[in-house]
Amino acid sequence: MDKFVIQGGRRLAGTVHVSGAKNASLALMPATILAPGRYALSNTPVLRDVATMSRLLESIGCTTEHDDHLLKIDSSHVTIFEAPYEHVKKMRASVYVLGPLLGRYGRARVSLPGGCAWGPRPVNLHIEGMRRLGADVELDGGYIVAKAKRLKGARILFDVSSVGATGNVLMAAVLAKGTTVMENAAMEPEITALAGFLVSMGAKIHGIGSSTIEIEGVDELHPADAATIPDRIEAGTFLVAGALAGAQDKTVRVERCNPRHLGAILNKLEDAGARLTCGEDFVEIQPPEIIRPVNVTTAVYSGFPTDMQAQWMALMSLASGTSIITDTIYFDRFTHVPELNRLGANITIKENVATVIGRKELTGAKVMSTDLRASASLILAGLAARGTTEVLRVYHIDRGYERIEVKLRGLGADIKRMSGEEF
Ligand code: EPZ
Repeated sequence: MDKFVIQGGRRLAGTVHVSGAKNASLALMPATILAPGRYALSNTPVLRDVATMSRLLESIGCTTEHDDHLLKIDSSHVTIFEAPYEHVKKMRASVYVLGPLLGRYGRARVSLPGGCAWGPRPVNLHIEGMRRLGADVELDGGYIVAKAKRLKGARILFDVSSVGATGNVLMAAVLAKGTTVMENAAMEPEITALAGFLVSMGAKIHGIGSSTIEIEGVDELHPADAATIPDRIEAGTFLVAGALAGAQDKTVRVERCNPRHLGAILNKLEDAGARLTCGEDFVEIQPPEIIRPVNVTTAVYSGFPTDMQAQWMALMSLASGTSIITDTIYFDRFTHVPELNRLGANITIKENVATVIGRKELTGAKVMSTDLRASASLILAGLAARGTTEVLRVYHIDRGYERIEVKLRGLGADIKRMSGEEF
């Protein structure tokens, strides 16, 4: 398994390009099941999770070709309606095939997702949504087994705002008979992008970008192409790198991003003392002289994203005081804390609240990746720590960041990927 070896203390400056959004691609790709034909999804990032979704689509009969960020999918010959455990255990987002298989073919057999580094991460809202649309859904041997002659429009009120459940129900409802109204729907940009893609395929959707989405079912859809939106979490991660390890008299310029998707993150970076310049598709950050402690409570969009919680904690580890970080989306998404503390951070957890007492400096050590965003947090801390940091099991980070070590080296970081040894 690969590891990263980081010599901390280098000051970063220069320009870094953001890739397409992993969590948009993971929704657009299964949507191609809804209408047989050929699709071209541009700006699709080259990531392990995208490859996992491609393998899953191929296992049901699609063909895929991913060449220089253009992902071509042909869904003309879907003949299998199953997402086996082998795929779903690798990536929870595999459950996204449930809605389109049910909506287009009236049947689906999808493994329940296994646990992840933090969990549980249930799919009850996905299942309840399909039932509300008239599907017969049973749980059998760890699988969701669903069937429906044809789904029927319904009113669906989500108890909890869920990105995945909103995406799945959206993809199921577009071919249902009648109108569906989803309330308390997720408003994340990746869901807005999915809805826009479905409209380009002929779906009739109103209220896109709001928490009440109305879908008028149609009898059939047609293939379309799409340009994947920029990854707001990757952009936020590089901005935190600039705040944490940027050169005082220089800037880190994060390009090909969408500043309008970054509002909560930019506000908190300014509160921490960073100076920001925003353009149409870039944000430039000048690091704070002194990192001010800033409390964060994660929330659904457009609040501070839970996917930036670990990265923020790395920054606050070097703040000039104490900060409180609360995750209201996942109550136990803190596997990065013991690893950050190995680097000299002073973080304690009580339920879903982390108290971070800022330190003057961190000291390099061997640390273990446990999940995607935890890995990012450890890399960020390693960039600022004195001495050498080894981040083990970086296959986690390859799930969601495209060649992160190459991009960071482009900003002046001393980070190398070492492969091979069993760590
Ligand atoms: C999506 O996961 C993202 N993944 C996650 O990003 C992100 O952390 C999460 O949304 C929250 O923003 C993808 O888009 C592929 P949810 P998802 O359903 O859809 C509860 C990353 O790092 N819930 O919005 O699985 C759930 O437990 C990944 O890129 C239910 O109770 O998240 C959580 O508390 C990690 N029942 C809350 O809702 C359900 O049926 C939000 O989860 C579904 C969810």
